[in-house]
Amino acid sequence: NLMTAGRVTVNGKVASELGTKVDVDCDVIAVDGHVVKLAEHPVYLMLHKPAGYLTTMSDPKGRPCVAELVPTDLHPGLFPVGRLDLDTTGLLLFTTDGDLAHELLHPSRHVEKTYIAHVDGRVTGRDLMPLCQGIVLDDGPCQPARCRILKPAQARAVCPRGIEVIIHEGRKNQVKRMLSAVGHPVIALHRPRFGPLELRDLAPGTWRYLTEHETEQIRTR
Ligand code: URA
Repeated sequence: NLMTAGRVTVNGKVASELGTKVDVDCDVIAVDGHVVKLAEHPVYLMLHKPAGYLTTMSDPKGRPCVAELVPTDLHPGLFPVGRLDLDTTGLLLFTTDGDLAHELLHPSRHVEKTYIAHVDGRVTGRDLMPLCQGIVLDDGPCQPARCRILKPAQARAVCPRGIEVIIHEGRKNQVKRMLSAVGHPVIALHRPRFGPLELRDLAPGTWRYLTEHETEQIRTR
């Protein structure tokens, strides 16, 4: 947006064309006349996304978006790795590291995403079998998921009796579509884990930096 609004210059010339390449070691890049520099180190943080926030860094219609919940003033290049639906809660990773984000989202990396779903109707193990075998949705077959019916204490973040679904793809509304396909539409969806990262007791609407250990884990997994 800054570029198309003509606010970005490279070596004093307005750079409004998206995809413009620069050499960060020698080109001088400025926004509104202020020279900007790359952060020394990439930043990694997790947000406990509450329901009612769009996974976007700005919304032309002014609706609440996750950008309001993370420190974009300290780290202007932050963006979310993947997305959660408006009504989905849980762990959303943010980074300034475009290469790592791209890699984590690539299907070949097989990053496991764990969801807990509160669904309509009483679910049996048999209902979940097609998901474990790899159900076919309207946009193609899903890879086999790991699914189980949780005990009340394990599902407390969402509902008394939740369904845990672990997938490593990230198609649009995938978990909702998978559960609807087996006759149990999702009422609420929560993501407690993304790869090796766990939300644990991070309060809804708050964020924290990843620890060094966590950063190392997502870089090398
Ligand atoms: N699957 C969904 O259906 N929704 C999400 O937000 C994430 C995964």
